[in-house]
Amino acid sequence: MLDTRVPEGEILRQREYMRLVEAMPGRPETYHIVSMGCQMNERDSETIAGMFEEMGMSREPVRERADLILYNTCCVRENAENKALGNVIWLKELKKDRPELMICVGGCMPQEPGMAEVMRKKYPFIDLIYGTHNLYRLPENLYRALRDRKPVVEVVQTDGEIVEGLPEARNSALSAFVNIMYGCDNFCTYCIVPYVRGRERSRAPEDVIDECLRLRDAGVKEITLLGQNVNSYRGGGAEFANLLYRLDRLGIERIRFMTSHPKDLSDELIAAYAELPHLMPHLHLPVQSGSDEVLRAMNRRYGRGRYLDLVRRLRAARPEIGLTTDIIVGFPGETEAQFEETMSLVEEVRFDSAYTFIFSPRTGTRAASMPDGTPAEVKSARIQKLIARQTEITAEILRGQIGRRETVLVEGASARDAGSVSGRTPRALTVNFPGGEELIGRFVDVEITSAGRNTLRGRIVEEEE
Ligand code: SAH
Ligand code: SF4
Ligand code: F3S
Repeated sequence: MLDTRVPEGEILRQREYMRLVEAMPGRPETYHIVSMGCQMNERDSETIAGMFEEMGMSREPVRERADLILYNTCCVRENAENKALGNVIWLKELKKDRPELMICVGGCMPQEPGMAEVMRKKYPFIDLIYGTHNLYRLPENLYRALRDRKPVVEVVQTDGEIVEGLPEARNSALSAFVNIMYGCDNFCTYCIVPYVRGRERSRAPEDVIDECLRLRDAGVKEITLLGQNVNSYRGGGAEFANLLYRLDRLGIERIRFMTSHPKDLSDELIAAYAELPHLMPHLHLPVQSGSDEVLRAMNRRYGRGRYLDLVRRLRAARPEIGLTTDIIVGFPGETEAQFEETMSLVEEVRFDSAYTFIFSPRTGTRAASMPDGTPAEVKSARIQKLIARQTEITAEILRGQIGRRETVLVEGASARDAGSVSGRTPRALTVNFPGGEELIGRFVDVEITSAGRNTLRGRIVEEEE
């Protein structure tokens, strides 16, 4: 096992740099973080925000006004990368007017082999470039960039680090992300994540439990455990389901997690869905394709039969469970018949919703060099057909909720209707209903009265507390 903690002394040293930055004359007063990609990046951004606040900076919601702008990047598909680069080019213009602006670019993109060097040459106005493994060294690197007023580029290849004890500024007081593991060893042939996030490593269960207890005491009502593949969690030798059983006893109302890989979803986890009252009846279980041949070429190590069997057993354990998924269309060599197998799987499973992507070749992955004769228009027609059918299924499932009573955790004012609030059911479906902002953070019983394309509407039945 590689799992090693970054020594406490190193974290204390970084805290020392936070104080040094704080005391620097002319240092940035405000920061703005743009978080791209997945929930792990979002969680990292909370740590970055925590470090910046320790350095005396405050959050500036308007990007253009901030003294320091940080892009926490994603490179999982080409369009994610283009978005990041487009933003960086725009920053160059901003920096012409405000030369003292600090620009930092970190996360998954600079961690791609050779990318940091390309960025340094092409975008010399970036003040700090760092990767995924040395996030905790941000205070020291920022200090050097400010002191020397010249770009700092630091990207390292260490695979086994686990960092504990950094500050954090959480985005929500209600619902929190908690990392349980980092990295991925699965090497699905299309995916760059194992190259930019390193090998799998798990946090100790005690550290996870400690963090959850702190969150609970601070009033958090819902935690989402994070990992690229939580099913291979092995903290202190304990399995993922075992961790869930321990967390379920802490008195946190709602527990969720993501993401789960179908190949190692255990019987114990299925049992946990039947037994644990705080484990919410929702599972994001990426299927990627409905074709055995495509799944094999993707190196997913399960077949259509295994996936459908898991779905059946999960529903037997927890009949009201809602399933969501990720699907890739147009993997190299995918035939029309193989695509139709994805369509029929979607029909059979009836996902609450699906994230659908056209295959994007990523340099260095195996699939990037597989022959791919399918024209772009054909792939685009396939994904549109898939989205159209999934949209109908989602609408049908939502209509099926009408008349039900659900406990909704109210998360905020409704973006759509004045005088309404919005929250989620245990199954993670969004419900809007008339009510005042005093309900935010409370659990409310709601009767579902109508359904739209993606969300439900309801009315309060009875209020708790
Ligand atoms: N660890 C998670 C997924 C992380 S990436 C898991 O295994 O489920 C999120 C999603 O992006 C994947 O599920 C996949 O559907 C999609 N994806 C990853 N690489 C891609 C690529 N090269 N092209 C298109 N979609 C991709
Ligand atoms: Fe990528 Fe596969 Fe790992 Fe998920 S399990 S992060 S898709 S390699
Ligand atoms: Fe993107 Fe990195 Fe997450 S590549 S999907 S931000 S792990």
